Amino acid sequence: MEYVTLSNGLKMPVLGYGVYQVTKDECERCVLDALETGYRSIDTAQSYFNEEEVGSAIKKSGIPREDIFLTTKVWVEHYGYENTKTSVMESMRKLQTDYIDLMLLHQPFSDYYGAWRALEELYKEGKIKAIGVSNFYPDRLVDIASFAEICPMVNQVETHIFNQQIEAKKWMDKYNVQIEAWAPFGEGRKGTFDNEVIADIAQKYNKTTAQVMLRWNIQRGVVVLPKSTHKERMAENLNVFDFTLSDEDMAAITALDKNTSSFFSHYDPGMVEWFAKMVEERKTKHDSSKEKKNW
Ligand SMILES: NC(=O)c1ccc[n+]([C@@H]2O[C@H](COP(=O)([O-])OP(=O)(O)OC[C@H]3O[C@@H](n4cnc5c(N)ncnc54)[C@H](OP(=O)(O)O)[C@@H]3O)[C@@H](O)[C@H]2O)c1
Repeated sequence: MEYVTLSNGLKMPVLGYGVYQVTKDECERCVLDALETGYRSIDTAQSYFNEEEVGSAIKKSGIPREDIFLTTKVWVEHYGYENTKTSVMESMRKLQTDYIDLMLLHQPFSDYYGAWRALEELYKEGKIKAIGVSNFYPDRLVDIASFAEICPMVNQVETHIFNQQIEAKKWMDKYNVQIEAWAPFGEGRKGTFDNEVIADIAQKYNKTTAQVMLRWNIQRGVVVLPKSTHKERMAENLNVFDFTLSDEDMAAITALDKNTSSFFSHYDPGMVEWFAKMVEERKTKHDSSKEKKNW
């Protein structure tokens, strides 16, 4: 495994296993498979509803806690100073751990400043080893980097061959914020796995298109979080440290950038309304049935 060093000196694996859209039923088995395959970084979130399964897989694996880099994220519903503090404690309980390696604010909406102050305090107390944000486009990132006491150490954003975040990465580099790629395959949208340029490069190195997409991001300094529920694909996605893409091949992949999300834009006011509605619906659900409260 290779590592990056965050602005506070913490070492973080350049490749981790993501559990978004891994169901509660499958999550424990998947994380156990990933750990057995050799992954030592796991990325979950309060809003994935599988922190408990991640926690029990880590326990069952027998791997010492300090050998695993564990990331989770505060969901918007829990923003604000007090709520965030409570929710981080709840995440730790579910994850069966007394510290979190990296805690991110999941989205740049609602009272993220209050939430950030809570993370700053928990960081100073040593309960969180590094703090960061996710889905912060350059304007919001520069805002929080400029006005908060502690600058985020990581920004996790959609980053793959069709949305390379070239400009956004320049801003992150300027503020010493580590870029981390969510959906490093773009979830396969727009034919990432079958792209001809990637397929030609893959053939040259005797690798798969998935491996080339991961290697390209790692070589440009981006931490990647591939997700697969299949153990053989987990192994395939981890096997990217025995080859190096040439400058020419790196440039050919850069040329594929469409500089557009394959999902949605966080600048779209309609999407902000969609997030607000989701937060409201989840709140109502939790209020009506305490035992069903599953964040
Ligand atoms: N911060 C955020 O807002 C945010 C948003 C989205 C994701 N994330 C994080 O980023 C992680 C990865 O993103 P993602 O899960 O959305 O997408 P992704 O990793 O780009 O793509 C996952 C898809 O690719 C398939 N796949 C994986 N490896 C493959 C291979 N070697 N060959 C062919 N197909 C393969 C998977 O199928 P199978 O599972 O069937 O193998 C799945 O359908 C998430 O799990 C989560 O931790 C964060």
